[in-house]
Amino acid sequence: MSGKFELPIRPRRNRKSPAVRGLVRETVLTPADFIYPLFLHDGEKDEPIASMPGCHRWSLEGLVNEVGEASAVGVKAVVFFPAIAESLKTPHGDECFNPEGLVPRAIRAVKEAHPEVAVITDVALDPYNSDGHDGIVEKDPKTGDLRILNDETVEVLCRQALCHAVAGADIVSPSDMMDGRVGAIRESLDEAGHEDVSILSYTAKYASAYYGPFRGALDSAPKAGDKKTYQMDPANWREALREAELDIAEGADMLMVKPAGPYLDIIRLLREEIDLPLAAYQVSGEYLMIKAAAADGWIDEEKVMLESLTGIKRAGADMILTYFAKEAAKCLAGSVA
Ligand code: PBG
Repeated sequence: MSGKFELPIRPRRNRKSPAVRGLVRETVLTPADFIYPLFLHDGEKDEPIASMPGCHRWSLEGLVNEVGEASAVGVKAVVFFPAIAESLKTPHGDECFNPEGLVPRAIRAVKEAHPEVAVITDVALDPYNSDGHDGIVEKDPKTGDLRILNDETVEVLCRQALCHAVAGADIVSPSDMMDGRVGAIRESLDEAGHEDVSILSYTAKYASAYYGPFRGALDSAPKAGDKKTYQMDPANWREALREAELDIAEGADMLMVKPAGPYLDIIRLLREEIDLPLAAYQVSGEYLMIKAAAADGWIDEEKVMLESLTGIKRAGADMILTYFAKEAAKCLAGSVA
């Protein structure tokens, strides 16, 4: 045998050089796909977060600077997560709609310095709630069982969303998973004349152990119980469709799947079934697993980072929330196939 045989179809022809691979590439990441989640606190100094290497709790000044650096490499959307002092946390989380609170101040500072950047805010009570839940908690005096009150929580979320809109947020993003909150927030915003403020809904947010490092970063873990009565069961996919239908009917502008990497089937499902723009959140645990393995020299951080993001986009996400946003944008600027 000469080692040659008749083989008219050879898929490898389309992989023969960087130029050809560039021509046939189906999924291309760009910095404009990324939403950069940023932690902030009411302090003068920027504090590195031990549980999330590479991330900081930013001071307002540090935050403005970091958004500027991200914008310079093409990342034009950010989302804020505040660490709130324990002394300001209450059962109803009233600090969440304080017009002079940390988030409204951050929105104003960032919009003033970087008006080209879309500011997204998280709408949920967990940073502000003394029980560490996304909603108001009621304890059964007899059994001690916890109940997360839906409709009472939605009222507070509306005030929070409105407070962010007044401060200048471009997009509000309810991550609480209460029923009916998208419609209620839309109505409150519209009544107050904020019909241009968009809603990015956490549509399929799963009760995931991958959020652990995030809760450590904000000191926002539930004091008791878990989030399984409001976040979705990781075993379910049909339920994601039902949540999507409701969010669309209630007026959401964009939907989100969270986490991203372990839920690529849900991203694909929603991409095929709905026509709204779709976001996916590569959460703290996904980020940390890559960081930790790379720090130990087990994997190539840059390559795994870009591959994980490409996979999320290939599955059908139009935009990706990722702690790698700035780093990935920098790599893309100099990348070759
Ligand atoms: C809470 C919220 C969480 C995250 C974003 N918003 C945590 C939770 O639901 O407990 C997690 C993000 C991450 O892990 O990176 N409203």
